[in-house]
Amino acid sequence: MTHRTQVAIIGAGPAGLMLGHLLHRAGIDSVILETRSEAYVVERVRAGVLEQGTVDLMRESGLGERLDREGLRHEGLSIAFAGSRHRIDLSGLTGGRAITIYGQHEVVKDLIAARTAAGRPVHFNVERVVVDELASERPRVRYVQDDASHEILSDFIAGCDGSHGTCRSSMPAAHTQTFEHEYPFGWLGILAEAAPASDELIYSCHSRGFALFSMRSPTITRLYLQCAPDEDLSQWSDDRIWSELRVRLGTEDGWVPADGPILQKSVTGMRSVVTEPMRYGRLFLAGDAAHIVPPTGAKGLNLAMADVRRLASALVSFYVAADDTALNEYSGMALRRTWRAQRFSSWMTSALHRVEHASGFEHRRQLAELEYLVGSRAAMTSFAENYVG
Ligand code: FAD
Ligand code: DHB
Repeated sequence: MTHRTQVAIIGAGPAGLMLGHLLHRAGIDSVILETRSEAYVVERVRAGVLEQGTVDLMRESGLGERLDREGLRHEGLSIAFAGSRHRIDLSGLTGGRAITIYGQHEVVKDLIAARTAAGRPVHFNVERVVVDELASERPRVRYVQDDASHEILSDFIAGCDGSHGTCRSSMPAAHTQTFEHEYPFGWLGILAEAAPASDELIYSCHSRGFALFSMRSPTITRLYLQCAPDEDLSQWSDDRIWSELRVRLGTEDGWVPADGPILQKSVTGMRSVVTEPMRYGRLFLAGDAAHIVPPTGAKGLNLAMADVRRLASALVSFYVAADDTALNEYSGMALRRTWRAQRFSSWMTSALHRVEHASGFEHRRQLAELEYLVGSRAAMTSFAENYVG
């Protein structure tokens, strides 16, 4: 069966769903294809920190209501090291900007609800997605759903299919370059039914390794521990996880995170990847399909949202004003922001994580770096500007 649309969107993560939403609001038709089930996409636990720009985008596009009701606005965060916690006043240092805690799966839920209300489809559970004719004015997507073959003819394809998707690898190798860096760390993340024992996030640099205290709601705590990239989760009983978290996050004033039943556990490796350019012919990449950042700076989801905001606006200029200037500038502009986020995320990763087999020199250097950060208004301002986005 052959379908026609203006923009074929591959992937129903935050990038693909937000792009479809913004295009719909501008009267531009799209079809979204997703290999996973709706339940899987909605329940996937990932990021939780929304930068001001992402919150603004949600509000401006009519998705602010639940976010404003349930999101937790944070005007500061703490960095812990050598037994003490040091607060960084994000809002005070950035003219009132802040971050908002609102789980990525809540963003995805809101976007799917808006898509459904608009009567526009997300095709879940599709298989064998192939994109081709990318250099022509009629790029084509083929896929299989319920054992039937389908074809979409569109003006553009948006590759929003994440780091393991098909779009990036469909760009001719001679036309693209991929820059990669593997970090020798992973994060063991848990979601726990426990009231957050602090109102704000705590990033901790400890001689036993990095730890992060975060939350999802007034009753749910989200915590991370630095581990090996291929850490075996079966070696981590709930008791072992809590005792390690207490050691790495606890401070001399006696503060430790409150514990409770663990609802979810996972291990994620850490990588930096950037593909240049983010476009080939009529295929545009956005979000994790084009770039991955280590999670330390909380940038992945926010970069994906910044990409699709820019891409949607460029497509609107193309359709409404017959002007392709912004489409031609998309890759260059998005890559500048991406490399800024890579710089900050890799700096934050190296400032806070323990390097296995490093001499005491490395940890002492980190402590000096962090002492400078929390002791200098200029350094804290630079940190706050980068963190809030
Ligand atoms: P994704 O969310 O990956 O969405 C891509 C979608 O495309 C997926 O639904 C996928 O199923 C679908 N897809 C793949 N292939 C195809 C295909 N061939 N056809 C159709 N659909 C396809 N960031 C943070 O800031 N903080 C965190 O704590 C954090 N934790 C993370 C934990 C994990 C396990 C992972 C993988 C990422 C994490 N990130 C985190 C990064 C953040 O979640 C991502 O940057 C964000 O999801 C990017 O959104 P996206 O829409 O570009 O990609
Ligand atoms: C969370 C994730 C991050 O990667 C981060 O830097 C801060 C918070 C979170 O899941 O809440």
